[in-house]
Amino acid sequence: MNSPAASGPGAVQRRWHLPADVSGFVGRSGELGRLAGLLGSERLVTVAGPGGVGKTRLALRAAADAAPADGSCLVELSGLTVPELLPDTVALRLGLQRGGEASRLEAVLGELRDRKLLLILDTCEHLITACADFVKRVLRDTSDVKILATSRQPLHVPGEEVLRLGPLPVPSADAADAGAGAGDAVELFTQRAAAAVSGFKLAADDLLHVVKLCRRLDGIPLAIELAAVRVRALPIAELAARIEAGLVAGTGTRRGSTGRHQTLHAAIEWSYGLCTGAEKAAWRRLSVFAGTFDPAVARDVIAAVGGAGDDLPLEQADEVLDELVDKSVVLPAGPGRYRLLDSVREYGAARLAEAGEDTECRERYLNWYLTLTREFSHRLVADGQPERLGQLRAEHANIRGALEYGLSNGGQKSTPGAAARARSAAKLAAALFPYWVMSGSIREGMRWQERTLDWFAEPSTERASALANLSLLGTTVGVGAAVGQANEAIAMAARLGDDRTHARGYLALHFALTTAGRYQEALDAAQQARRRLEALGAEHALRTLDMQLALTYVHTRNFEAAIEHAQRLLRSLGPGERWLRGNGHALAALAYYQQPGRQAECENAVRAALCATQEISNLVGEAYSLEVLAWLAVDAGRCQRAAWLLGAAHALWERTGGRLSGSVVLDGYHKRATAMAVSTLGTAKYTELHTAGATRPFAEIVALAIAGADVLPEQPDPRADEISGWEGTESLTVREREIAVLVARGLSNRDIAARLVISKRTVDAHVNHIFAKLGLSSRVQLTIWLRDRAPARPVDELSPVAHA
Ligand SMILES: Nc1ncnc2c1ncn2[C@@H]1O[C@H](COP(=O)(O)OP(=O)(O)O)[C@@H](O)[C@H]1O
Ligand SMILES: [Mg+2]
Repeated sequence: MNSPAASGPGAVQRRWHLPADVSGFVGRSGELGRLAGLLGSERLVTVAGPGGVGKTRLALRAAADAAPADGSCLVELSGLTVPELLPDTVALRLGLQRGGEASRLEAVLGELRDRKLLLILDTCEHLITACADFVKRVLRDTSDVKILATSRQPLHVPGEEVLRLGPLPVPSADAADAGAGAGDAVELFTQRAAAAVSGFKLAADDLLHVVKLCRRLDGIPLAIELAAVRVRALPIAELAARIEAGLVAGTGTRRGSTGRHQTLHAAIEWSYGLCTGAEKAAWRRLSVFAGTFDPAVARDVIAAVGGAGDDLPLEQADEVLDELVDKSVVLPAGPGRYRLLDSVREYGAARLAEAGEDTECRERYLNWYLTLTREFSHRLVADGQPERLGQLRAEHANIRGALEYGLSNGGQKSTPGAAARARSAAKLAAALFPYWVMSGSIREGMRWQERTLDWFAEPSTERASALANLSLLGTTVGVGAAVGQANEAIAMAARLGDDRTHARGYLALHFALTTAGRYQEALDAAQQARRRLEALGAEHALRTLDMQLALTYVHTRNFEAAIEHAQRLLRSLGPGERWLRGNGHALAALAYYQQPGRQAECENAVRAALCATQEISNLVGEAYSLEVLAWLAVDAGRCQRAAWLLGAAHALWERTGGRLSGSVVLDGYHKRATAMAVSTLGTAKYTELHTAGATRPFAEIVALAIAGADVLPEQPDPRADEISGWEGTESLTVREREIAVLVARGLSNRDIAARLVISKRTVDAHVNHIFAKLGLSSRVQLTIWLRDRAPARPVDELSPVAHA
């Protein structure tokens, strides 16, 4: 089925945010100009140069200036150690939740095909082959996507333009003496010193010392930054002398990138040497984090690794982390998170191995993520689910690091340590089951189950559990092997006496058979599953079973039974649960829709589904909800509303794949709604509204859908007086009203900040005040709260109903 707008250019517009600058940007105007030129004419540009020279900073700057129609998307690869997961990593960044394609690569290519997008692949050097292969496919299969890569070495792909990035310019001592300007390296030093010591000014006498120092550091920004923070403790002349002395032992005298690499190494070494024992311990141990980290997590992983008498007692860990932030070894990376720059992490990893702390530290890291994930699974349906899901999402790179560590055997499969690690990692991969589903990382989840199967080739609990999970995950993306895997899991678990996996095997079998259309067998499997899960008191799995059964009954058109199971599921959930709630309401809505006279119940169910699904970005659930709302709108003669709802749903199906799970019956409703809307509105109007639905900020569309709007509002600047005088808003200040209106229109805090030209932090604070004053706790609640107080909305003047 082709809706008129489906193939239109730019049907879907997405925005990804590039990270904000955490410190001032210096110089590089020539390079930025060249890069802009290259990005204008070429499709693949690689910024190549040694570590710490400023490739990432430059690329991000250039990307911010480039502003392609569909935005720029940054994919950070430094933490990725598994080359095959490159497409998954890109998919995750693009926000794709599709699983139907043959591979994640296909899914990514499908998403990119019609985009005008700049894809930034940051830090490619350790994945050169995988990056080169990926880039070749993107260049071949898309026409408007451009790629900006950063790497210590070029990718050597046909069509690649390489910009070799050298250090920041440093004048010769004579030139500086003659007042020829100090150059960008000195400027960077001065800025960072001023950030370290308030009121710092470069005295004329010190200029030459700084010039010398920057020369000694080869103008490498990272080395300069590490040195500059030392002005806290040392006068400049002394600092320059120490660096001179400290680097003499190094080999930083040769020029060229190897020489610079050695300078950087020496500068980092020097910086490490100046740290206290506790700081050194923290630095090297932090290198186990593949991605950004939360200090609370880091503390537990890095403290007292050697036992009680360790360099780094737990109670000092926070303080030591602060010290490392002060010294620019650890950098802020978004709210509440930190990271190490690549070169700094690599150096730390080498010291960690040397100190013989590698194994203990990585094991703790693995176990920490196992604990976190188990906590997530155990409290899956408890309040605070969106926050816990957000926490896991932020840890995705680290979770991968932990899994990779545990499941890579490095040829030492037989050692007891390796086996224990693999068992922990297998448990982690299994415990992550709900996360793989909820975050739309089905394919990656399957991959880790497959890795578990590779490790545990003989019958074992690990193997049986991985088979059951693989089956469940595979079913959601339509993999044919799911029935067989479930049966194998059941048989193996039965032989091993593993009751839990035995029961889960039947759960998987039920789901797989339902999707295969073998409904009677599916219902038999469900009975087996229920009996066993009840005996085990496996509450959560029982809820999942109810959800699956509601689906089976929707398929068999036993709508009463579907509703009964959905309702039982919903009754079992706490108020803070969002995942099962969204799916439960959506399934109920599908069942109501297909029965005469139940539109009102359907509408209520679908609204409830939308509220729940949008809070955790359950894209499939959102897409179903918008679809059903569109069908209801057409039935009520509200065709304008239907058109933009269908557009919004279409944009989501593009990202999830598998519209309406390929169901012929449901697709019939979709086609009917589209045809009615097109014939009522005319193709031009329909296309305009459909495109608007697909391209307006998604949260705005959801807010309007929930509010029952027919007409999409114009997009004027916000007016605070818009809601003044509405009952209950008196307690808000003018600014808070302005912000409340924007929140209700679905803008993120970041977008609001940009629009009002204030900082995001300020917006965060305002939003919290608004919540506190109105006694609300979420954006959805605020939207509904305002809707309930709003004067009547304009009706759909093109609808037959409006004229009746
Ligand atoms: N032009 C610049 N202005 C300010 N700081 C810079 C500049 N270039 C690099 N830096 C700083 O130097 C450090 C290393 O830069 P980065 O871009 O991470 O290097 P690379 O990607 O080449 O390893 C970072 O802390 C970065 O903020
Ligand atoms: Mg970099």
